Amino acid sequence: MSRQHIDHSHIATFAQERVNLPKDKADEYRAQVRRLRERLEGYLREHPDFTLKKMLLSGSLAKGTALRTLNDIDVACYISGAGAPGDVPKLLSYLAERLRKAFPNFSPEQVKPNTYSVTVSFKGTGLDVDVVPILYNGDPNWYGKLVSQDDGSLLATCIPRHLEFIRRRKDAHETNFAQVARLIKFWAARMKREQQGFRFKSFMIELILAHLADSGHDLSDYPEALQHFFTYVARSNLRELIVFADYYETSCVLTFSETVKIIDPVNAKNNVCKLYTAAQADAIVNAALDAGDAIDAALNAPTKQETARYWQKVFGSAFQV
Ligand SMILES: Nc1ncnc2c1ncn2[C@@H]1O[C@H](COP(=O)(O)OP(=O)(O)OP(=O)(O)O)[C@@H](O)[C@H]1O
Ligand SMILES: [Mg+2]
Repeated sequence: MSRQHIDHSHIATFAQERVNLPKDKADEYRAQVRRLRERLEGYLREHPDFTLKKMLLSGSLAKGTALRTLNDIDVACYISGAGAPGDVPKLLSYLAERLRKAFPNFSPEQVKPNTYSVTVSFKGTGLDVDVVPILYNGDPNWYGKLVSQDDGSLLATCIPRHLEFIRRRKDAHETNFAQVARLIKFWAARMKREQQGFRFKSFMIELILAHLADSGHDLSDYPEALQHFFTYVARSNLRELIVFADYYETSCVLTFSETVKIIDPVNAKNNVCKLYTAAQADAIVNAALDAGDAIDAALNAPTKQETARYWQKVFGSAFQV
């Protein structure tokens, strides 16, 4: 690949300046969640029968894959006890009512149930915290039934293992795994703004990238890593089964009838992409083809200006050199 005008280091600088959530912000938001979690732990010490058992930072802030545009903090809350309603709207009211009990210094309006989570708003500084309920039966590995943020269904899964799964890939590809994931998420966010109905969930992006990383691909050159990702999506047409052997034998994965089949690394029965239609998968494949073509063109363009113009087809006008 030609590296004459824009190379790996330009993409890395762009990521630092425009894509990534700055470290001081990430630290501040993590501390915000830590204080909530510690307050719940204090309440639990005094009320051991309380049914909210644990709060856990989940989502991109926990995985180190958050973008600068992060606008809320995902926290999972484990709810146990026979009294917890199985019906999602009731469960959310129940969770809100319990959170108000554990956090009496928050006014009731600061703890509000919405469609699939409970939002805890902070006055003044800090982001809103989105508390997602997990129905919990005491499993020692913290498996539980997570309320899906896509459609409110209950998904048997394990957030701590998801974090561990991502951590392993980050350890194997120091800084590069998280960085390439963030660059692709940035591209996907731009596609969502430009194309009505476009969806490409962050967790899917991370799992596809993990699949590529696991097959031995080096992610240390960002133009090449991005090109590899887009080429894989285009070539597989997003119809190839993706499974991981971290927590179960891949031979126990059953046949899935859905279009896109990327199986939850912690639960062989959960297809993370079950809600994606063929049209939505095709939209991702087409967008990946365009992005791959743009990167090819960028790497062969004769002038710096033209090279930048092709990279802007991938990352938008935010990309400047
Ligand atoms: N279909 C699913 N099945 C199991 N777990 C899921 C599923 N969707 C999301 N999760 C869990 O929720 C977490 C957050 O979801 P997701 O990756 O889409 O958002 P995110 O990492 O917070 O990214 P963003 O920056 O877009 O907010 C995942 O890391 C995973 O633990
Ligand atoms: Mg999130």
